[in-house]
Amino acid sequence: MNLDYLSGFGNEFASEALPGALPVGQNSPQKAPYGLYTELFSGTAFTMARSEARRTWLYRIQPSANHPAFIKLERQLAGGPLGAVTPNRLRWNPLEIPGEPTDFIDGLVGMVANSGSEKPSGISIYHYRANRSMERVLFNADGELLVVPELGRLRIATELGVLDVEPLEIVVLPRGLKFRVELLDAQARGYVAENHGAPLRLPDLGPIGSNGLANPRDFLTPVARYEDLKQPTTLVQKFLGELWACELDHSPLNVVAWHGNNVPYKYDLRRFNTLGTVSFDHPDPSIFTVLTSPTSVHGLANLDFVIFPPRWMVAENTFRPPWFHRNLMNEYMGLIQGAYDAKAEGFLPGGASLHSCMSAHGPDGETCTRAINAELAPHKIDNTMAFMFETSQVLRPTQFALQCPQLQPSYDACWAALPATFNPNRR
Ligand SMILES: [Fe+2]
Repeated sequence: MNLDYLSGFGNEFASEALPGALPVGQNSPQKAPYGLYTELFSGTAFTMARSEARRTWLYRIQPSANHPAFIKLERQLAGGPLGAVTPNRLRWNPLEIPGEPTDFIDGLVGMVANSGSEKPSGISIYHYRANRSMERVLFNADGELLVVPELGRLRIATELGVLDVEPLEIVVLPRGLKFRVELLDAQARGYVAENHGAPLRLPDLGPIGSNGLANPRDFLTPVARYEDLKQPTTLVQKFLGELWACELDHSPLNVVAWHGNNVPYKYDLRRFNTLGTVSFDHPDPSIFTVLTSPTSVHGLANLDFVIFPPRWMVAENTFRPPWFHRNLMNEYMGLIQGAYDAKAEGFLPGGASLHSCMSAHGPDGETCTRAINAELAPHKIDNTMAFMFETSQVLRPTQFALQCPQLQPSYDACWAALPATFNPNRR
């Protein structure tokens, strides 16, 4: 099923796993079909503007309210609290996949954040590593989750249906949605942006027009699928940054029919309609925005998800790599495959870098020298997919991120080799 509510018109989707399970003409009939219970799943405040409102009606075997008390788990999320403030540019090698059995929850590691989980804005960024499927079910009360696989395919069973994703695809899971991450390969690794602010949506296109970048029809939401299982299931929730759990006697993935727009969805980054210059210079990287979480200040994002896909470089008389710059926004970059065109080495698939507000960065010395001397024939940057979680508030690394052996000790050195080429006598 296509998901085009991201175009901002509050479109509505509907799916039923049994014929007639979805009530017609009303949301909450006295007796729902098949003896199901009706439940409203709200992702925004009731009184949000219609164009912003997200909610889904669920018709399920057991209402979610049927659960005992949650108890705080002994094993909490890895990564620890935020560490010391640092304005420095940081870069990490990929985290290793653990040797011991590790599911998606145990393998989540907090790396950076700019907000407490209790705040209605900001983001937290995690890496995940896993070598086994979740047997428990998770929901996150603290925000929406944007999952970016780098290694291994995932099957994400949610209340609203099943999404299979592989590297070069992404998944967005609404705040509060119950899900179970299963591995379709022996190992899995990737990135997660937790969005505490306004739900992600497609960016406006301005003068680009009504087509281009990520097109609404390419966002896919699952069809209804339910588990009628009377077996003990651990339900975990993340609440204000802490993990709590309770034991159910049934599967909570028991929604038989649903309709609404507060839904999980996937998107294949290979379908991104990449735009760029056909003359000289190149546009700001906002031209590569897939999804955005806006703030109340127009144009100032709580989270932009930006990709650097394969593309032709044709600009004439132009320094073609990303220019040197200093940015109000804070940039957390990752690499899904291949190499990133601004770095000759040191930035690996599964790795990450952080360039904070006003920290100077750009191509490394080797890339810069090569670009200045390059023959500017059209060429294609291929087999690559870097991305950026960009946010308007400063990201602080966790204690883990500052202390882990994957933190590169000499990232600054990649710019130290920039030669002094200034000569006042030669224009
Ligand atoms: Fe940048």
